[in-house]
Amino acid sequence: MFAKRTIWNLTPNRLSEALAAHRAAGKPLIDLTVSNPTECGFEYDSSAILNALSNPAALSYEPNPKGLESARRAVAGYYADRGDDVDIEDIILTTSTSEAYSYVFRTLCDPGDDLLIPSPSYPLFDFLAEIHDVNLVRYPLLYDHGWQIDFHPLEQAITPRTRGIIVVNPNNPTGHYAKQAEIAKLNSICAERRLAIIADEVFLDFALEGDRPASFAANRDAPTFALSGLSKICGLPQMKAAWLIASGPQEWKHEAVARLEVIADTYLSVNAPVQLAIPRFFELRHSFQEQVISRIRRNLAELDRQLAAQSAVSRLKVEGGWCAVLRVPVTHSDEDLALLNKEGIYVHPGHFYDFSSGRSLIVSLLTPELQTVQGVSRILAFLR
Ligand SMILES: Cc1ncc(COP(=O)(O)O)c(C=O)c1O
Repeated sequence: MFAKRTIWNLTPNRLSEALAAHRAAGKPLIDLTVSNPTECGFEYDSSAILNALSNPAALSYEPNPKGLESARRAVAGYYADRGDDVDIEDIILTTSTSEAYSYVFRTLCDPGDDLLIPSPSYPLFDFLAEIHDVNLVRYPLLYDHGWQIDFHPLEQAITPRTRGIIVVNPNNPTGHYAKQAEIAKLNSICAERRLAIIADEVFLDFALEGDRPASFAANRDAPTFALSGLSKICGLPQMKAAWLIASGPQEWKHEAVARLEVIADTYLSVNAPVQLAIPRFFELRHSFQEQVISRIRRNLAELDRQLAAQSAVSRLKVEGGWCAVLRVPVTHSDEDLALLNKEGIYVHPGHFYDFSSGRSLIVSLLTPELQTVQGVSRILAFLR
């Protein structure tokens, strides 16, 4: 009696079983997978956050499919601070970036249409695609002293059923930003073949080096949807506030926004107190981002200090984002590596993110520094 799209294998995998057993036995665990910023010891201005949620204007209901104008102005202001000109009429608020993906997939794709996604990347796409009857086709990212898009296989993967190309900017977990030359190439491919660029920019502000990275939010040269939200930018995943922005050729953009507006109007999903608080939340982002970036820098420095004392494990270059990728010797299975349970370390295996088996571990750089020191030293001792 259930839809085929929900025939998921719901049995726990070896890793989650071993992790549950380790926790149930009350053994200590150093968790190098943390991604929830509210549990990493960052300082938040609690009273400012809570005050922002008690705006009396929330007592009346103003249904607006795109979201309250004051909130969309704040989103446009965020891009203006970066030097990008975004019209508030092209912004649609959603409860999460995942929901924004959902609106975009529904707008672009009929059942069985293809979307191209980067590999390696974030595991959420498989579920989102299945729920929306979309077929994912992977295009490779190459690593050679830094990450880049491999355009030849990307172009070969395009078929008459392809509707768009997803770019994660910077990508999770590789931390790779789309460079100007890559943006230009994506624009020319998508403009010529009438495809949309879907750019996930939730980690855009967490660059570790160089100039301010380019955003796709004001991309003019190809049909584009840019997605982001407060979960990473402000470290407030619990507020459930995100957005999508349509940009590109005028005629296409108007049509896209009109269609999206019908979807958004069907749900009207973002609640009033949070929308009214969005301008204040944006003001608070600077202190959060400074804390995150300085922790990431300290964790990377510690990682490099320990890696320098051995030769079995190395790390790949990180341009931004919240993770580092470790290259490890292929002597253990991915999941043995990932739990390292006798050592009391929890770390994600590379295959979670589509890396080939047994070669990589993904380490969160949000982990409090003391745990990074201990966790990394135990991983290196285990792999020696
Ligand atoms: C690349 C990427 N996109 C989107 C999300 C989800 O964001 P949201 O909390 O807004 O749904 C995540 C969460 O980790 C992510 O890593």
